[in-house]
Amino acid sequence: MEIIKVKDYQEMSERACEFIVEQLAATDQPVFGLATGSTPEGLYECLINKYKTKEVSFADVKTFNLDEYVGISQDDPNSYYYYMNKKLFDHIDIPTANAHLPNGNAADLESECKEYENRIKQVGNVDLQVLGLGLNGHIGFNEPGTPFSSRTHVVELDESTRKANARFFPSLDDVPTKAITMGIDSIMESKAIILLVSGKKKADALAKLMNGAITEEFPASILQKHENVTIIADEEAMSSL
Ligand code: GLP
Repeated sequence: MEIIKVKDYQEMSERACEFIVEQLAATDQPVFGLATGSTPEGLYECLINKYKTKEVSFADVKTFNLDEYVGISQDDPNSYYYYMNKKLFDHIDIPTANAHLPNGNAADLESECKEYENRIKQVGNVDLQVLGLGLNGHIGFNEPGTPFSSRTHVVELDESTRKANARFFPSLDDVPTKAITMGIDSIMESKAIILLVSGKKKADALAKLMNGAITEEFPASILQKHENVTIIADEEAMSSL
């Protein structure tokens, strides 16, 4: 794992943006794996600006999001579908059909998971995966205890994750209890990964990821085994290292 130390959230976002821009230049039809949450918002703003100034185009890009809640509608502002459209896709030239998210409202969720895997396989896997880090070490929505061998699946969300995400919902009761997430093995198949970490509250998780044991009890620890991971972390996030 390579670690890039940056000053703050803004610099982390700009550095991550450079990674995407470089990948766009290096690959004819790049496939990006995208994350939600607060962490990548600055990255998406930066990408929109690069598009507006005509530095980049997303016309030949395909994207696959890591995860989606089960049971909230696509036009619910808390769905990741809504988040991605508002924070990125509505502002760039990516063809709608190229931007993929798991469908958390599918009648048959198991088939949806399989179908999502197939769609990723069909394009030859993700070239560059963007990841955030959950406080309990989750990546995507792979909570502690998820087998490293997991593929895209339906998860029961941890109480701690629901609490961490409750800030976006009217109340904790409104936070879904389930989600679809790409599995750990699916994520590990990405050719390259950038993990973005910002803020003091992530410091202990980052220290555990970098120095702790590789264990299913801390899902992000598996990244130690990936051949091409770059962690972009700010000073606060690195304060426990
Ligand atoms: C969320 C998402 C993850 C995200 C993580 C961190 O629950 N499912 O994809 O990376 O938790 O979120 P944040 O960036 O808001 O701290």
